Amino acid sequence: MKPITTVIVEGVRQAVADARQRRLSVGLVPTMGALHAGHTSLIRAARAETGFVVVSIFVNPTQFGPKEDLTRYPRPLADDLRLCSAEGVDLVFNPEPATIYPAGFRTSVEVTGFQDVMCGASRLGHFRGVATVVLKLFNIVAPDVAYFGMKDAQQVRVIEQMVADLNVPVQIRRCPIVREADGLALSSRNVYLDPEQRRQATALSRALAEVRQRIEAGERDAVGLEQLLKERITATPGARLDYATIVDYDTLERVNKLHGTVLAALAVYVGTTRLIDNVLVTLAEGGR
Ligand code: PAJ
Repeated sequence: MKPITTVIVEGVRQAVADARQRRLSVGLVPTMGALHAGHTSLIRAARAETGFVVVSIFVNPTQFGPKEDLTRYPRPLADDLRLCSAEGVDLVFNPEPATIYPAGFRTSVEVTGFQDVMCGASRLGHFRGVATVVLKLFNIVAPDVAYFGMKDAQQVRVIEQMVADLNVPVQIRRCPIVREADGLALSSRNVYLDPEQRRQATALSRALAEVRQRIEAGERDAVGLEQLLKERITATPGARLDYATIVDYDTLERVNKLHGTVLAALAVYVGTTRLIDNVLVTLAEGGR
């Protein structure tokens, strides 16, 4: 069955109210469209757990910097709607920017500290835009559960913190990164890569896999592992490092000696395309 599609807030509220009347739980998958198997995995997780699945498709202008790819970001809406239909999505919310940010809009959400490090350091204002739009989507849809990919691990952490700090009544699910056969994390931005860049882009997942192996073999020196990430990217022709870091996933702070749950994360320009990837490792006690 085709999903209901709506561009207005009232359309969402009505459809969700009808679903609630039918005693269905509500799942939300927020996206910017150009849907791929990464998004599909979130939709499937939502379908497995909730009775009424809402997908939002909105290229959120406030999370793009002035020099970023807002205008050229892919918008294949007909394909996206077909995918949603095939995946049994119940409702697609595809608002216009003016619906989300009407004239006079002046409120935003800041998750201080978390928004300023890693991707936030090179994309000023990015996480303010993300947190604000996601809180708006939570308020419009009022889902029981919302699904996010660990491809954007810092985004997940920012949203978890916002939900906890502001008592937002939604459960956040972390979904694993979906990768191509050669390891490249799926991303709507991969379409910008030419064939040579596409090959170079595998350097990210290879370097991170190496770090994971070393940690699993007992390595606990974060500085040495950060250095290894940097060297692997610097040695890749066509790739330019934005950042390579290893942080505690709870605090997003850099650590010297690894313990607990650690996030190794990379942001790399391949040509003009900025790619991110990460691995999350929960350490067993011990190691050296
Ligand atoms: P977008 O980049 O479209 O991603 C939507 C969701 O899909 C995010 O939760 C993202 O982490 C997840 N995703 C993307 N690639 C993935 C992959 N390879 N494996 C698993 N999950 C993947 O993230 C955004 O949009 C926006 O910032 C948004 C949250 C919608 C707010 O505007």
